[in-house]
Amino acid sequence: MAEPILSLRGVARDFDAFRAVDNVSLDIKTGSITGLIGPNGAGKTTLFNLLTGMLPPDAGQVALNGADVTRVAPDKLFALGMGRTFQIPRPFARMSVLENVMLAPMAQIGEHLLGPFFRSAPMRAQETAIRERALGVLDFVTLAGLADQAAAQLSGGQKKLLELARVLMGDPDLILLDEPAAGVNPSLTKVLIEKIEALNARGKTFLIIEHDMDFVMQHCDPIIAMAEGRVVFEGTAQEAQNNPILLDAYLGAQTDV
Ligand SMILES: Nc1ncnc2c1ncn2[C@@H]1O[C@H](COP(=O)(O)OP(=O)(O)OP(=O)(O)O)[C@@H](O)[C@H]1O
Ligand SMILES: [Mg+2]
Repeated sequence: MAEPILSLRGVARDFDAFRAVDNVSLDIKTGSITGLIGPNGAGKTTLFNLLTGMLPPDAGQVALNGADVTRVAPDKLFALGMGRTFQIPRPFARMSVLENVMLAPMAQIGEHLLGPFFRSAPMRAQETAIRERALGVLDFVTLAGLADQAAAQLSGGQKKLLELARVLMGDPDLILLDEPAAGVNPSLTKVLIEKIEALNARGKTFLIIEHDMDFVMQHCDPIIAMAEGRVVFEGTAQEAQNNPILLDAYLGAQTDV
């Protein structure tokens, strides 16, 4: 079997006396669209924070393509090919959509080239290249027509697409999405799913937290469920739908809403 793109071993995190993530061990299959489900407070976002270097784990290891990346900072992980979006998008509201996308790699490249070389010809050439790339990425996520608008003017769904665009600037192999469909209207959700599947067909691996069960059941394989900080299920959509624990505790509840 191919090496998993991401491996977690015994990952744990406490907030004071509360264990938010409890001894999680997982392998994310290279090339998969893996779904991560679980009730509110299950520890899904905290797990993302632990494996993207935003929060140090109290125990355990994270490996990306076999290399240990436990406690590696988010910008380094971005450079190593792991990109993530946030449950609540947080663009720079007064900057334009294009500027928001351009900033994603500028934070990486700019840092190294600033100082005496700032505004030098190579820097300007690089900025032009980044602008071109950002426009291409915005075109891909269907936001090219809004490139010059302030990010604050975007709808909730468009902000999610903007987040995806920022992630794509890093050309990541692994993309972590935290509730991409939450608060997004059905037509934009459809666009988002098309883009995820197109990127997946090009070899990108996805790990997606989502409460929308239609989204997860139709587009994610395998599905992982967490509850109270632990992994309680791993399997296909069909297995999830036949799993009594999930049916009662989670999937059943969804159909009542
Ligand atoms: N920084 C923090 N400090 C203290 N407690 C936290 C912190 N972050 C998360 N928690 C707690 O950890 C638990 C797991 O939260 P988390 O955000 O990971 O859940 P989730 O599965 O993403 O839920 P949701 O589906 O509502 O987004 C919750 O009880 C939450 O209150
Ligand atoms: Mg969450």
